[in-house]
Amino acid sequence: MNYQEILEHVCQEIQPFSKEGKQADYIPALAKVNPDQFGICLHTIGGETFAVGKATTRFSIQSISKVFALAMCLSLEGDELWKRMGKEPSGTAFNSLIQLEEEKGIPRNPFINAGAIVMTDILLSKLANPEEEFLSFVHSLCGTNSVSYNEEVARSERSRGYLNAAIANMLKYYHNIENDIERVLQFYFLMCSVEMSCQELSKAFLSFANHKKSFQYNHIMLTSSQVKRMNAIMQTCGFYDEAGEFSYLVGLPGKSGVGGGIAAIYPMRYSVAVWSPRLNPKGNSVMGMKALELLTTETQESIF
Ligand code: DON
Repeated sequence: MNYQEILEHVCQEIQPFSKEGKQADYIPALAKVNPDQFGICLHTIGGETFAVGKATTRFSIQSISKVFALAMCLSLEGDELWKRMGKEPSGTAFNSLIQLEEEKGIPRNPFINAGAIVMTDILLSKLANPEEEFLSFVHSLCGTNSVSYNEEVARSERSRGYLNAAIANMLKYYHNIENDIERVLQFYFLMCSVEMSCQELSKAFLSFANHKKSFQYNHIMLTSSQVKRMNAIMQTCGFYDEAGEFSYLVGLPGKSGVGGGIAAIYPMRYSVAVWSPRLNPKGNSVMGMKALELLTTETQESIF
């Protein structure tokens, strides 16, 4: 498969969509990013790398960090994790409160904000140095120690993070948070503020693409069955109320973030990360979704 040629072609084909949507501005620091940027990078299981556009420019990974948090929590908690959250698609926005109230403080899945806030609480309870350990897990996945948090973005989000604070308070009310709410929120925003390039993100996701191998980085270990199940959750819950649309158009497990990034996996074949800050109304990158749709269409490779 000539992935380089296909990625270059995809990049040309999506140009008509280059001004569609707008970048997230509810996080003030993200409103400053130049929205007219695009990058894509693909790593094959066989060790090849293909890239087009701004594939080495770092951006705010935001909710994509929830995949790393899930890997750590599954390793630390195993199936106990599912006592504190579900694994069903939510069909609601990532920051919705309605379902959380109806379901008495049990988030639908780990990838909506409520689920990720509970995972943050678990990491705070289980790890001696959660901030360092989360980052060093990401370093081991992407192979680059210079990947870091952007504390300005984290502070900026905290300054306007009323909805996430409401979610954390409701979780605490239902006894689904053990730690101090402010501590949990600070770590949650910090995790979201990690900055990575498409190249680094795609490399990091390669470990999830190979579900036939068990997975060990430092003390974080996942069985091959757990890796496969992470893919299942990405497939059903990775795009909030657009998970069905992403499955329909792209047909790969993946995860998006409001920084405009999307990471996806073709199991046993490749991982791919794409970035472009302009978002559609559901909070997913317009050019990113389009690029992945064209990639799986032109390669005729998807899980379906
Ligand atoms: O909590 C938030 O709202 C952001 N830090 C992350 C949201 C996000 O990336 C949702 N993605 N599409």
